Amino acid sequence: MSGVILSPQHPLSAGLTSDSRLVRAYRGERSDATPVWFMRQAGRSLPEYRDLRVGTRMLDACLDPAMASEITLQPVRRHRVDAGIFFSDIVVPLKLVGVDVEIQPGRGPVFGRAYADAAGVAELTAIDPARLDEASAPITEAVARTVAELNTTAPSTGSGQVPSGTATPLIGFAGAPFTLAAYLAEGGPSKDHLAARTLMHADPGAWRALMDWTAELTGRFLRTQVLAGASAAQLFDSWAGAISLADYETHVAPASAAALAHVHDLAYETTDASGASSTRSVPVVHFGVGTGELLGAMHAIGVDTVGVDYRIPLDVAVERVGEGVPLQGNLDPALLAAPWPVLEAAAREVLRRGEAAPAHVFNLGHGVPPETDPTVLTRVAELVHEASA
Ligand code: CP3
Repeated sequence: MSGVILSPQHPLSAGLTSDSRLVRAYRGERSDATPVWFMRQAGRSLPEYRDLRVGTRMLDACLDPAMASEITLQPVRRHRVDAGIFFSDIVVPLKLVGVDVEIQPGRGPVFGRAYADAAGVAELTAIDPARLDEASAPITEAVARTVAELNTTAPSTGSGQVPSGTATPLIGFAGAPFTLAAYLAEGGPSKDHLAARTLMHADPGAWRALMDWTAELTGRFLRTQVLAGASAAQLFDSWAGAISLADYETHVAPASAAALAHVHDLAYETTDASGASSTRSVPVVHFGVGTGELLGAMHAIGVDTVGVDYRIPLDVAVERVGEGVPLQGNLDPALLAAPWPVLEAAAREVLRRGEAAPAHVFNLGHGVPPETDPTVLTRVAELVHEASA
């Protein structure tokens, strides 16, 4: 795809977020402190989230721009983290093109049927993914509302005086084709994602069609968020750790790359201190759980930063992705419930090992558990900023 320059109002083009700790880290630079945000920072760990969600189903909340925006902002205000992550879900684009899906509390995405064979895949792929763009108005509006507030917020100073370039960026996200297919083939959540792994080998043609379709849909969802104002994009391939490296490279990586092609052409122009201008692309992060064997391949599809789960120390991850790649991660979420001295030591260890990478974005190795005490998250964010300054 040929390059598209983001609008002058976009926070990256306008110079609002382009020198934030997060965006700098995603381009491999260290700044005054290590940036920190938490996967699933918006959600059930926050009492203000639970209050707001009473009586509203998950996917309805995602499609209510005022509510989705407010939920996105809650953890930013509370924890002073270095990024907001857009409140939505990986199945939202499926819902928007008319697929029968709901999110059951405590369970996850559940579909009206399983798409585990050629007939099921044909039914799904009969839907034109381009239809998503007409249905995306609630996403565009929610992102725009969120960014309008984030533009006047900086993690170091709170709301009010925002030093040039350091407004809090919004991260847009989407599910990778394999992780979406893991739900679609099964018709819902599963432990081992057997239906998807079977389809991949039993009918490679149907698998390919499913992955191509999903890649276009999820890629469009990600692009919409960036065009509307997100300053970075994260592709979640949460369940990629269930497959071998060989299967990943043959049956999954091409579709993930195709999804990311929908944002790789988006760029912004910046001018440095000496007045020289240059064009930069929107930073892209790729994360999955249990992907220690896949980290190199997940980087190779063409991403700036690799997210690492808690099973592999960051200095070991550096050896696997190769030097020069910024990393994001990787405190074990289980430690959020441990006594503070244990948690503090573990967080410091993550920072120490993260020094092996050119830049590090502190995060958890997976999402915030719903029962987490939110004051602990605030304290971890403060610790990361203080200990790395
Ligand atoms: O704060 C954030 O990180 C942003 C919001 C976010 C949600 N889903 C909101 C959500 C993000 C980034 C996601 C992505 C997502 N959704 C992934 C990839 C990331 C990961 O965790 O691996 C996956 C696999 C899903 C599918 C999904 N949706 C699951 C497994 C669940 C949890 C089910 C449960 O109740 O435990 C959901 C629902 C969901 N998505 C919730 C939230 C806040 C919980 C909804 C509620 O409050 O009832």
